Amino acid sequence: MKTTVLVLFGGVSGEHDVSLVSAASVMRNMDQNKYEILPMGITGDGRSFLYTGPLDEIEQNRWEQDAAHLTPAVISPDRGHHGILLLRGKEFEIVRVDVVFPVLHGKNGEDGTMQGLLTLAGLPFVGCGVTASADCMDKAVTNALADIYGIPQAKWISFSRHEYERDPAACLRQAETLGFPLFVKPANAGSSLGVSKVTAPAALAAACEEAFRHDEKLVLEEGILGHEVECAVLGNEDPLASVVGEIEACNDFYDYDAKYLAGTSRLLIPAPLSEETAQAVRAMAVKAFRAMGCRGLSRVDFFVRGSDGAVLLNEINTIPGFTSISMYSKLFAASGIPYAELIDRLIACATE
Ligand SMILES: Nc1ncnc2c1ncn2[C@@H]1O[C@H](COP(=O)(O)OP(=O)(O)O)[C@@H](O)[C@H]1O
Ligand SMILES: [Mg+2]
Repeated sequence: MKTTVLVLFGGVSGEHDVSLVSAASVMRNMDQNKYEILPMGITGDGRSFLYTGPLDEIEQNRWEQDAAHLTPAVISPDRGHHGILLLRGKEFEIVRVDVVFPVLHGKNGEDGTMQGLLTLAGLPFVGCGVTASADCMDKAVTNALADIYGIPQAKWISFSRHEYERDPAACLRQAETLGFPLFVKPANAGSSLGVSKVTAPAALAAACEEAFRHDEKLVLEEGILGHEVECAVLGNEDPLASVVGEIEACNDFYDYDAKYLAGTSRLLIPAPLSEETAQAVRAMAVKAFRAMGCRGLSRVDFFVRGSDGAVLLNEINTIPGFTSISMYSKLFAASGIPYAELIDRLIACATE
C-alpha cells in the first residue's frame, strides 16, 4: 500500500518562490512506488489548490496559470476527514491523506501556523511542531531561549516598531552599544530579506526602516567576523547531526542576492574546520535542536569567530531550502544519506 503524501508548496511569505523550487525537487525525488503524491499549492494571496500538472510548471512559477490542472482544495480541520476537501462548485470530495510534507518557507508556512492547522486536523506532518516552529521563526525568541539554555551567540537586542516610533533615539543609542559592524534584521523573515549590515551610526536608522518593512519587531546583533557554518539535523528524540558545511558568500554577507541570484557563493562541504571545532558545531546543533523542541529536521546555522574560534549560534531554520543542491540535503548526502533516502526518513519521522 502506498503512503499518500500531501506536499504543500508556495505560500504567502516573501519566500514563496524559494518554496516552489524546493517542493518541485522534493516531489521529483519521491519514490513513486512508495508514495502517492498530492501536490497542494498555496498562492501568494493565500488560496489553495490541488495541482496535478507537471512539476516544471511549479518550478517555473507558472502553475497558477495552468487552470486545467487546478482544483480548489482545503485542508479539513475535521479529523474524520483526515485529509483535504476538493471543492467542485457546490459539491466536495474528501481525499484521505496519510502524511503532510509542508515544503513552505517563512511566515504562515514555517512559523507554526500551518503546523497548528495540521495538528487540529490530526494529520501527521514532516518537521517541527507548533512551538518549535514559532520559536525558531522569531529570532528574538530564539535568541532569548539560546541565552536561557546556555547556547553561545552574538550580543543582541530587540525592539518593536512601537518602541522605535515612541523613542527612536533611545533605540539607536542602545543599538550602538553593540558596536560596529552590526546586523539589523526583521525578527520574523528569512532568505536574508530585510537584513542589513551596518558599519556606521549614520546608516542605522535606514537599516531599521528597511527591516520594519518585513516585520513589526527587529533583532540587532553585533557583527561576527569569521566563518559562517551550517549543520543539518535529522530525527526526533535522538537526532543525527550531519557533517558541517561552510558558506562562502560572494557578497559582503550572505544576502538574498548571494543566496539565490548571483550564483557565485560557494558551499564548502565539509567545512575547512579542525575536527575539534566541527565536533563542537555538531554537538551544539543537536543541543539547540533539543533545546527548541525541534522534530524531524532543522538546519542549525553558526558563526565560528575568527579571533578565538568560538562557536556562536546564528539561527535555526525548521524548513530550510530543500532542493537536491541545497545545503541541508548536500550535508546529509556527504554524511551518507542521499536525497531520496532523506525524504523517506523524514516521512518516517513524521509517522513515528
Ligand atoms: N551577527 C551576525 N554577524 C555576522 N553576520 C551576520 C550576523 N547575522 C546575520 N549575518 C549575515 O546575514 C545573513 C542573514 O542573516 P540570518 O540571521 O541568517 O537571516 P535569515 O533568516 O534571513 O537567513 C547571514 O547568513 C549572515 O551572512
Ligand atoms: Mg540565515
